[in-house]
Amino acid sequence: MTTPRVHPDVERVLITEARIHRRIAALARDIGKHYGDAEVTVITVLNGSMVFLGELLHRLPMPTRLDSVVARSYGAGTKSSGRIRISRQWQLPLKGQHVLLVDDIFDTGLTLKRICDHMRREHPASLRLCVLLDKPTRRVVDLQPDFVGFTIPDQFVVGYGLDFAERYRNLPYIAVLKPQIYRA
Ligand code: IMP
Ligand code: MG
Repeated sequence: MTTPRVHPDVERVLITEARIHRRIAALARDIGKHYGDAEVTVITVLNGSMVFLGELLHRLPMPTRLDSVVARSYGAGTKSSGRIRISRQWQLPLKGQHVLLVDDIFDTGLTLKRICDHMRREHPASLRLCVLLDKPTRRVVDLQPDFVGFTIPDQFVVGYGLDFAERYRNLPYIAVLKPQIYRA
């Protein structure tokens, strides 16, 4: 096999594909231990969590139901607008269910806080958060993710589902782009 070339817009690869896959396998085992045989309703936040969820879901050992929610806050920039719009809600009833909310990254926390507040109105039996990445220094809400892949510094990253203006989601690693790309 030839070594895959790094995208020319990438300044630095933070987390390689192999490391991501190893960590997701461990995360799936931790989640499995937590829930045992209980059925879990997995709700994934689109679009950013698609790639992560794909790798995680088939490794989860417990019975699951899958649904999704579409939320937006960023537009085409690198800072949260703070205004979270849930543009498509989940469809499965959550009452009495163990809900696992899966997203790509926990940044300010505003998005998942907003979604959690909505979900709690349906009285799930439990509600847990799983994210591939956590940027704890950016937190503005009183909420912590329960299952975290990697804790990263306050840098805008792309790849493995994360985008900048909808681009770079297909990069198989987590990377920081060259400054001129963010400025453009
Ligand atoms: P929060 O509401 O500030 O926690 O942001 C959550 C959403 O912002 C995530 O689901 C991502 O879509 C996006 N986001 C936050 N940080 C980054 C980043 O470094 N790269 C790409 N998207 C990000
Ligand atoms: Mg997102």
